Amino acid sequence: TKKPILIEGAMPIEVKDFSKKLKNVKEEKSGTFVFYKGTIDNYPVVIAKTGKGMENAAAATAVAIEKYHPKAIINQGTAGGHDPKLHVSDIVLGKRTVNIGSFKTEDKGKNQGIDPKQWKPMDLMASEGSGSSSKSENIRYYEGDKGLLSAANSVKDKYTKGNVVEGTIGSGDIWDNEIDRIKWFHDKYGTTAEEMEGFAEAQMANAYNIPFLDIRVLSNNKTNGGKYNPNTAVPCQDYVYDVVEKYISDV
Ligand code: 5AD
Repeated sequence: TKKPILIEGAMPIEVKDFSKKLKNVKEEKSGTFVFYKGTIDNYPVVIAKTGKGMENAAAATAVAIEKYHPKAIINQGTAGGHDPKLHVSDIVLGKRTVNIGSFKTEDKGKNQGIDPKQWKPMDLMASEGSGSSSKSENIRYYEGDKGLLSAANSVKDKYTKGNVVEGTIGSGDIWDNEIDRIKWFHDKYGTTAEEMEGFAEAQMANAYNIPFLDIRVLSNNKTNGGKYNPNTAVPCQDYVYDVVEKYISDV
């Protein structure tokens, strides 16, 4: 039997339409995680509703990997723009993901204030030690899988709601509304968009050596006044469906 493709989404609105497209669907639960097992073009596909944030994302991914042994993983859903050239409804293919919630602060005494721009990245996978080595201060990027990226690029003309571009997706348990902070991430770490799950799932995919790609539609873009529209999650699922069909037709 074939190994399934695992498609993940955090919120109900990010998985509902996709789960309706599956044939022969069976729902399974583990803790708070919900898995929809079915097929697309007779190929096995599992959709995971993970819940929001890095912890839910990582745990749901590890559980799904142990339960279903996926051949490849796509995370998809909504994100906030960090690039003023991108608009609500544009889609970012995660050529890279990066953790924008893991930092070590400067040493400062009482009344010396707080200074987030001086924070150093803290690579939680750098070593088994306490994290004081200079290596652990490197920012870590996980690369999106080339095969998944090429499938995604080859169907991008089917997406009519906006542009589909490659970029760097930053993840953390944070929703940034400070434009200067967004710009700081964009300038310093090259972020194109932010969300709360992708990097955690990339980390799990990497731990098990499974191809991974994060695909995110902008539901908001603070940098150019792009107003929040959660319904962008629906056409994003249509696009990811096309990506999956293309990917399974190639393998
Ligand atoms: N910042 C952080 N997360 C966002 N999401 C959408 N836009 C943003 C944003 N600007 C996604 C997250 C999370 C939920 C709140 O929506 O991935 O699942």
